[in-house]
Amino acid sequence: MSEKPPVSPKKRVVVLLSGNGSNLQALLDQESNYSYDIVGVVSNVPEAYGLERARAHKVAALGLDYKVFSSRGAFDQRLVEEVNRFEPDLVVLAGYMKILSPEFADRFSGRLINIHPSLLPDYKGLGTYRRALADKKTKHGCTVHFVTPELDSGAHIIQASLNIEPTDNEESLKRRVQIMEHQIYPLAVHLFTCGRLQLKEDKAWLDNHPIDPQGYQLLENALELA
Ligand code: GRF
Repeated sequence: MSEKPPVSPKKRVVVLLSGNGSNLQALLDQESNYSYDIVGVVSNVPEAYGLERARAHKVAALGLDYKVFSSRGAFDQRLVEEVNRFEPDLVVLAGYMKILSPEFADRFSGRLINIHPSLLPDYKGLGTYRRALADKKTKHGCTVHFVTPELDSGAHIIQASLNIEPTDNEESLKRRVQIMEHQIYPLAVHLFTCGRLQLKEDKAWLDNHPIDPQGYQLLENALELA
């Protein structure tokens, strides 16, 4: 009788967020199809709705009020301790609105990713929809990337883009981009946790090939890997 191959255990993922947590929700919704378990959610804003989403899913949720810490260094040191308690294979920033200390980024280097609502390197920082519309851009989108100490600058993993329609405003653009985020972020987390995606020599690699520096390109109406 042939034996079944051993089932590899799911990898442990910790999510950091500051607000609504719609990306966390997408990650939770896809968990059973993919190779990861969300084992903890930490927020620097104790009242973040994302923490409620985690609790509703029976995931450990911790609010760490940054205002009660004496310095960014002290806060990040505690954050490292709390995140490490979950023994994560991957740390996922999902709307985490506080700039991380270089120590935090270095501590989790190669297993720390972020999603940003622009076609990086365009529009780092805040207000990406407003700025793209003001510049009369024809395309916008989102980028999943490895995190380095420099803001929104690590190696790109996946970039999903759409055509800005003449009727788009900030709200509609955000809605359309977030629909893409909710598909590509769980996919990127899955690719990492099933061992297909790595950071090597400051580049993202998929299936042992370096990914194009812009990131693996996907379009709004075709969001699956070839
Ligand atoms: C997302 O649009 C993401 O690109 C950015 O922050 C937003 C978080 O949204 N980094 P949500 O909290 O996941 O709804």
